[in-house]
Amino acid sequence: MEFSTHSTASLHQVKTAALAVGVFADGVLTAAADLIDRASNGALRTVVKTEFRGRQGSTLVLRSLPGVAAQRVVLVGLGKQDEYSARVHAAAEQAFAAYCVGAQLTEGASTLVSVPLEGTPIRARARLAAIGAGNATYHYDESLGKPDRDARPKLRKVVHCIERGDATQVQAGLREGGAIANGMDLARTLGNMPGNLCTPTYLGETAQKLARAYKTVKVQVLDRKQIEALGMGAFLSVARGSDEPPRFIVLRHAGKPAARKPAKDGNAGPIVLVGKGITFDSGGISIKPAATMDEMKFDMCGAASVLGAFRALAELQLPLDVIGLIPTCENMPSGKANKPGDVVTSMSGQTIEILNTDAEGRLILCDALTYAERFKPAAVVDIATLTGACVVALGSVNSGLFSKNDALADALLRAGRESLDTAWRMPLDDAYQEQLKSNFADMANIGGPPAGAVTAACFLSRYAKAYPWAHLDIAGTAWRGGKEKGSTARPVPLLMQYLLNQL
Ligand code: BES
Ligand code: MN
Ligand code: ZN
Repeated sequence: MEFSTHSTASLHQVKTAALAVGVFADGVLTAAADLIDRASNGALRTVVKTEFRGRQGSTLVLRSLPGVAAQRVVLVGLGKQDEYSARVHAAAEQAFAAYCVGAQLTEGASTLVSVPLEGTPIRARARLAAIGAGNATYHYDESLGKPDRDARPKLRKVVHCIERGDATQVQAGLREGGAIANGMDLARTLGNMPGNLCTPTYLGETAQKLARAYKTVKVQVLDRKQIEALGMGAFLSVARGSDEPPRFIVLRHAGKPAARKPAKDGNAGPIVLVGKGITFDSGGISIKPAATMDEMKFDMCGAASVLGAFRALAELQLPLDVIGLIPTCENMPSGKANKPGDVVTSMSGQTIEILNTDAEGRLILCDALTYAERFKPAAVVDIATLTGACVVALGSVNSGLFSKNDALADALLRAGRESLDTAWRMPLDDAYQEQLKSNFADMANIGGPPAGAVTAACFLSRYAKAYPWAHLDIAGTAWRGGKEKGSTARPVPLLMQYLLNQL
């Protein structure tokens, strides 16, 4: 998608297929709507008295207004003016782009970025606008037999009409948002692809493709032999149940050293992102019920978010040092699969009694967390569709955030709020560690039904003692089930906002 800017002064002269102007509840016109109203001899004022009252989420299309060069003016409802928020703004931009997509337009122009919003500077509004347009133009056809050409969005360009002095900030925000949208696009498609196509091998190839496309990205894809040589006994125990070969993917984005800034807290190490890459989670011998088991193809959404973030990072050429680690395999039942009661030895040397083979995410992540030590990281954030218990606790609104490091936790929570991709902090008290006691190993891989999301995080914490660490449980936020089934690309916006905030 291409973005550009135009001056609001001559709004009525903007030649475009569709021009979006905002209207608040009770027909209160925004400045841009007022300009169009004057140019068209009061065409808007008449309409907002009756059929269009500015209800949030509603749109009304007016064609061929006198005195207005745009072919269509799209009125976009912004709801009550005193309730206007970043979320409403982002939704309005998305609704406008969705209208353009539905009408099969190739380009449009929007004035919505210039609607003032206290606490959300214009650069952030532009970023959200680009992400909204990206959401509206997303299209999946990777596994369709005969892709429908008409279903493919044609919208290529959105012009943002702003005041001249804002151009630099808006262009920066659009560039950031555009890159985040592209990262989300990759994450979403990987999530949506079926498990027989999006295999560990495919994720490895996707990482290598990123390295070929961007010279700041270097990638290593380790195969089973190399993973064995590292001693990743917990990860390999999960992979063993499947005929699909595992991969351990190591990505590095190194921004230009000259431009690279030292981390604010003085710690010079890289930021490490670790993504759970279970390309299908059947549960293994502790097999899951059949209903909605298909959704366990989404169990690699943590990995997808890391790859998506890397695409955005590389496109923006951020002057940061970032490592991505992706342990990826299937969790399947077979004659070679883990059995309840088995004891495996992790790369750290700690042994684990596997009481439930369906608690596999922590088994692959713990070895990746040990591997992360070699980078002497400034911070490690793991991202995983880890527990059904987190869905029970937080639903699909917030990702679960677990960390003993207040500064890191606050930075991630803030990034979530700024990017409208929110997380909620969960407890990680040592008292919960009790539940992981085993009679036959250093720990069990489950802690029983109480506080299941917390004991999963407690398990991981035992492998993350060498650096500041946070865990994001995205089981409830990474995809939607039911009629709207599909990946959300969360938490790519949160991760990218966190990285942008380092600069
Ligand atoms: N991938 C699942 C977690 C999950 C389940 C995410 C449902 C979204 C929806 C994970 O590997 C898993 O199976 N966790 C178990 C852990 C339990 C056995 C302690 C769970 O949550 O049931
Ligand atoms: Mn599982
Ligand atoms: Zn899983």
